[in-house]
Amino acid sequence: MKTKIYKNKQEVAEQFSAYFSNLVKDYGTFHVALSGGSTPKLIFDVLADSYGDTIDWSQIHFYWGDERCVSPTDEQSNFKMTQDHLFSKINVPKENIHRVLGENQPMGEAMRYANLLEINLDRVADVPQFDLVLLGMGDDGHTASIFPHEMELWEANDHCVVATHPDSGQKRVSITGTVINKAKEVIFLVTGDAKAEKVKEIHGKLGGYKTYPATFVTPESDKLTWFMDEAAASLL
Ligand code: 6PG
Repeated sequence: MKTKIYKNKQEVAEQFSAYFSNLVKDYGTFHVALSGGSTPKLIFDVLADSYGDTIDWSQIHFYWGDERCVSPTDEQSNFKMTQDHLFSKINVPKENIHRVLGENQPMGEAMRYANLLEINLDRVADVPQFDLVLLGMGDDGHTASIFPHEMELWEANDHCVVATHPDSGQKRVSITGTVINKAKEVIFLVTGDAKAEKVKEIHGKLGGYKTYPATFVTPESDKLTWFMDEAAASLL
């Protein structure tokens, strides 16, 4: 596990964008699972503004590590967030955007999306393998949409599962830990002081770390990097 700590969120966004631009250069087709929530907003803005004209987006296929079971026009939609902050600013072919159909019945969509991953991605030991998985981490130590109260979903046999947000009860479709840990590379994008306690516990193997799904992100490739700002890393 590598940690890259930068002064603030803007610098995390700039450094990640440079890393991403450099990484994709070495690939033909590139399959990336995006994270959701609010952290990616500035990161996607910077990526689009700084590299929108230099990255060959026709080679990049976009998926999501998790999606809220809402319509694609809903403010809660990770697809809409990505559309607003990235896709609306770059020349990416529509056929390269593989959104989770949040408007569908959750279980059926989890099965459909798992099937799509199994068809579109190379499989290693029958598990679909992303070139890169981007992850955020919640204040409770969740990642993708695997929450502490549903830890059994982390190792579910299916490659996509239906999860339930512990507070709102909102249904979500999420890839599982098996898919995350099969990725060629995994990057956490974690900023803000609200994450500092969990970052300290996970990186230091302290307190309740064994109850946090983010603790179990241990890709077989060993290529795991935490991009953080000083606020999120302030207790390390
Ligand atoms: C989601 C995410 C989730 C997110 C964390 C952090 O759909 O909400 O995929 O795992 O990455 O909750 O969210 P913030 O970036 O908003 O802090």
